Amino acid sequence: MKIFLDTADVPTILKHFETGLIDGITTNPSLIKKSGRDPLDVYRELMIAGVPDISMEVVEDMEFEARRLAAEFGEVCTIKVPCTPEGLKVCKQLSDDGVRVNVTLIFNAAQAILSAKAGATYVSPFIGRLDDNSVAGLEVVRSISEVYRVQNVKTQILAASIRDVYKVSRAYWNGAHIVTMPPKIFEGMYKHILTDKGLEIFDKDYQDSKKSVFNPPPFATTKHGKDLDSF
Ligand code: E4P
Repeated sequence: MKIFLDTADVPTILKHFETGLIDGITTNPSLIKKSGRDPLDVYRELMIAGVPDISMEVVEDMEFEARRLAAEFGEVCTIKVPCTPEGLKVCKQLSDDGVRVNVTLIFNAAQAILSAKAGATYVSPFIGRLDDNSVAGLEVVRSISEVYRVQNVKTQILAASIRDVYKVSRAYWNGAHIVTMPPKIFEGMYKHILTDKGLEIFDKDYQDSKKSVFNPPPFATTKHGKDLDSF
C-alpha cells in the first residue's frame, strides 16, 4: 500500500518526503505548468532528494523522450504515457526493456486490460474525473482490480485524480495498490476532529498531573508529537 504525491511543487514534496511515508511522485504537464519550472529541473531535484519513483509524462516524440528520461534518471524514472495506440506501443517497447511505465488517463477496465497487455507497471484510473462525469470512479478501480485478480495480472493500480480523503481509503479498499494525491489530501489524512479534541484533553491532563503529581525529567517539556526529538 503505497502513497504518492501528485504534484510538481518541490518544496512541498520535500517537506512531506521527510515524513518517510511518501513512496513516489506523479507529475503531468498541467502540474509542471502550474509549478512554472522546467520539468527536468523538478525531476533532478527530486532524484537528488532520494525520491525513489517519479512519474514523468511524455507528450511529443514519446519513445525518444522516454528513452532520454530513462537514460538520465534510471531507477527512479517511471515513464507516463496516455492510453492511446501510440502510448501503449511505447509502453510495450519500454516495458520490454525493463523501464517502468505508468499508463495514464484510464477510465475503464478495457483500457486497463490493454495497458496490462502492453506490460505497464502501473495503470492510473482517474477517480475524480470519472465522478465529475457521473461514473463512480471507485467502481472502475474495483472492476480493474477484479479483472487483474482473476487473470493474475501483475500491473499495479495507481488510483489518481483524488479529491478528498475518503476516496483514498476507499481506493485502497477497492484494490488500488497505490494512491497518488495532492499534498492537501495527504495532510488531511492525519486529521480527525476527535484526535484534536482528545489531544487537547490529554495535554491539559498531562499538564495538571505534571504540576501536582510528578516532576518530569527536564527534556520532557513539549506536547504530544510537537517535538519528537525531545522524547
Ligand atoms: C495522475 O497521475 C494525474 O496527475 C492526476 O491525478 C490528475 O488529477 P486531476 O483530475 O485532479 O487533474
